[in-house]
Amino acid sequence: MNLLITAGPTREYIDPVRFISNPSSGKMGYAIAAAARQRGHAVILVSGPVSIKPPAGIKLLKVMTAQNMLSAVKANIKKCDALVMAAAVSDFRPSICCRRKIKKAEMSTVIRLKPNPDVLLSLSRQKGKRIFVGFAAETDDLKAEPLRKLRQKHLDLIVANNVAKPGSGFAADTNKVTFYSPDGKPLPLPLLPKIRVAGRIIAWIEKKIEKSS
Ligand code: CTP
Repeated sequence: MNLLITAGPTREYIDPVRFISNPSSGKMGYAIAAAARQRGHAVILVSGPVSIKPPAGIKLLKVMTAQNMLSAVKANIKKCDALVMAAAVSDFRPSICCRRKIKKAEMSTVIRLKPNPDVLLSLSRQKGKRIFVGFAAETDDLKAEPLRKLRQKHLDLIVANNVAKPGSGFAADTNKVTFYSPDGKPLPLPLLPKIRVAGRIIAWIEKKIEKSS
């Protein structure tokens, strides 16, 4: 398969020294890229700013903002059989990015936010027979919210995790997830190293593609 995988946070600059972002480490997305590569698939990894090493044998595209990530995904979607959006995309960006450092006394009057594009939603027209996998980063509702995102973003699979729990949050080496798909029962997995969760996601996609071909 040809897999397009996103990972890490996006960073939305307010001025040269400040930005809006989130604590995503990229570990989950990089683990998915590594697991896909181990299974012999071709991987394009679109990554926000992270400090971990990419797996060998993949094509890495580094991006900064949500808009950059959308462009990189759009440019590569046609050649892919599946898209896995593990990135923690910033939902908002400052309405203007100042070239000079904003003085702290001015900040509250200068800063205004505007919504970023939703990468998965923006790509839904190009989905065709491609498999789209999303993640649901939640802190309390681990069922209704992932199911809402699954439907709203036209996904084949959503991987829900509680980002407020130790062991399954941002930057952990493990994750505890539940798989939700439109036609299957919820599949809760035990707490596993991220590479094992990644392996289960790749196996799910392989099976889905095998069934539909
Ligand atoms: N996502 C995306 N573009 C965005 C925000 C999120 O493509 N601007 C993707 C994420 O990569 C993930 C899925 O959508 O695969 C769900 O992301 P999540 O942050 O859980 O939910 P949101 O849609 O941002 O909704 P909310 O912040 O209200 O929970």
